[in-house]
Amino acid sequence: MKIYVYDSNSLLESEFAPAIIKCLSLMRGTSVDLKKYVDEVTDGEYYFLMDNTDKGDICVGCMRYSTIDKNLANMLRLNKTSNVIKLVSSVFIRKEYRKNGNAKRIMKAVYTAQPKLLLEVLYDNTPALKLYFKSGFRPIDRRKLKDTYIVLMSTCETCIRYKK
Ligand SMILES: CC(C)(COP(=O)(O)OP(=O)(O)OC[C@H]1O[C@@H](n2cnc3c(N)ncnc32)[C@H](O)[C@@H]1OP(=O)(O)O)[C@@H](O)C(=O)NCCC(=O)NCCS
Repeated sequence: MKIYVYDSNSLLESEFAPAIIKCLSLMRGTSVDLKKYVDEVTDGEYYFLMDNTDKGDICVGCMRYSTIDKNLANMLRLNKTSNVIKLVSSVFIRKEYRKNGNAKRIMKAVYTAQPKLLLEVLYDNTPALKLYFKSGFRPIDRRKLKDTYIVLMSTCETCIRYKK
């Protein structure tokens, strides 16, 4: 298996685009338009783990990082962090490939490219919390969302500055 890294333009032109669309559609639970997916985060780096099988190329999972947008920075009361910290999102591994270290592999590649990372995760998503903890993220805050909580985690606690 191999990790492929794209920016928004190269992702749209990738030879793996059909396999990647299948993986993203599984992640979102609905048919994904790759152009619209890329338009959500045009300044991002996109990571995909590919497996070459006798049935063809399979996209095993994904991850991306991007600049923290103003809305999220405001919601989190963050102060001037967007130029230092990148937001991790779209973390997903296909069911049949889970619990095999695959998410850790992609996270390591993301972390190597960008060590100052931030993400949000539901407080009861145990597999994801364990993955992030083992990948060097530590909880730094939480916020309420309807009747649940979202945990804010970062690899760089000292980079986080809150607005007063
Ligand atoms: C979270 C997710 C990406 C983990 O992918 P994965 O490839 O199975 O993770 P890994 O095999 O790399 O495991 C990383 C660590 O997570 C923990 N973990 C993974 N699956 C777990 C499970 N079902 N229960 C408990 N811990 C689990 C383990 O501690 C593991 O470390 P270890 O191998 O040293 O024991 C995957 O479960 C997934 O795609 N979930 C659905 C999407 C999602 O919830 N994404 C997160 C959104 S914030």
